[in-house]
Amino acid sequence: MKIGSIKENLNLEGRIAITPEIAKKFIANGFEVNIQKNYAVHLGFNDQEYKSLNVNILDSEKSVIEKSEILAQLALPSKSLLNNISKDKILIGVLNPFQNKKELDELTNDKVKCFSLELLPRITRAQSMDVLSSQANLAGYKAVVEAFSSFRKAVPMMMTAAGTIPAAKVLVVGAGVAGLQAIATAKRMGAIVFATDVRIASKEQVESLGGKFLTVEGSENLETEGGYAKEASEEFKKKQEELLSETLKKIDIVICTALIPGKKAPVILKENMLNNMNSGSVIYDLAAVQGGNTSATKVDEIIERNGVKIMGDSNILNKLPVSASNLYSKNIYNFILNLYDKEKKQININLEDEIIDKTIIK
Ligand code: NAI
Repeated sequence: MKIGSIKENLNLEGRIAITPEIAKKFIANGFEVNIQKNYAVHLGFNDQEYKSLNVNILDSEKSVIEKSEILAQLALPSKSLLNNISKDKILIGVLNPFQNKKELDELTNDKVKCFSLELLPRITRAQSMDVLSSQANLAGYKAVVEAFSSFRKAVPMMMTAAGTIPAAKVLVVGAGVAGLQAIATAKRMGAIVFATDVRIASKEQVESLGGKFLTVEGSENLETEGGYAKEASEEFKKKQEELLSETLKKIDIVICTALIPGKKAPVILKENMLNNMNSGSVIYDLAAVQGGNTSATKVDEIIERNGVKIMGDSNILNKLPVSASNLYSKNIYNFILNLYDKEKKQININLEDEIIDKTIIK
């Protein structure tokens, strides 16, 4: 079985799908690995390192695509490259099926088998393949680091002969995977952390990390069967606004992570709430690309309003691409092993397996 990967569009994506560590594992499992020349030099992995592991280094994207039965990527490759993927081959990545519907329909019509990893079910067996979790976890950490480095005060409480510096107060909005890692990171650095979510189950998780959970009083639990959030009612939004407006007056740093699958991110921090925040406060909005959790967020810009900084990257994972690639390529490896019949040495697309059925583009 031959697996390949080509360079991503480096202007948008710094991560890679096959690190040297994972190439070694594929080869130990009997796979052949093909990559394009200079595939990961931007991450400090040169061709020689891959070559020493018996990876084939090919001159062009086209030859990697032609010589590989499975193509493992991050984003969907450009249209001109997609035309080179022939019938019965497999393409795996974070293919953004809602935005790329047309291209993916064309590929499936041509009998290319496309798997999009953001569609993985959130079940225990899929955890080792769960790209949303592995990447959200790193994003939550990095959002805190970015916000703290823009904050012009110290974060932990410091008692010195010259006086006491109080601990910074952090609010995390949305306590899913990214939010919980943000809470843990901010706590480790000495901040006092508050968090809120529409899912009641997250209260216990926030508290186990030492955070204070802000409950929207008298509200119903807005959790779907799949564990995701439902869109909040107008009544809930009003109560949440009242609760957060008061809290924000004493908060130094906000980390926003609230998302609703398939929808625009909810705008939680509105104009009037932002106006009440103290000058010098910092907001890092991880939901920026999905529209943002504040009314003022602009992707890849730092907005400053009355001394409050609001920031959000289009791809924060490009700020720690080596760690993100290490986890992503492990997710890819585990996903492919689940597709692979070791005895028959071939791919087995068993649609009775929920992991395969949910991720394949039909
Ligand atoms: P997500 O990235 O879709 O959303 C982030 C958080 O924002 C969620 O906790 C959501 O409840 C919250 N949120 C949405 N609207 C909000 C609002 N108006 N106000 C405040 N908070 C709001 O979620 P993520 O991180 O992908 O996790 C979704 C679920 O999946 C969680 O229940 C998590 O525990 C579960 N999960 C299960 C795994 C498994 O293998 N069993 C693996 C990973 C996650």
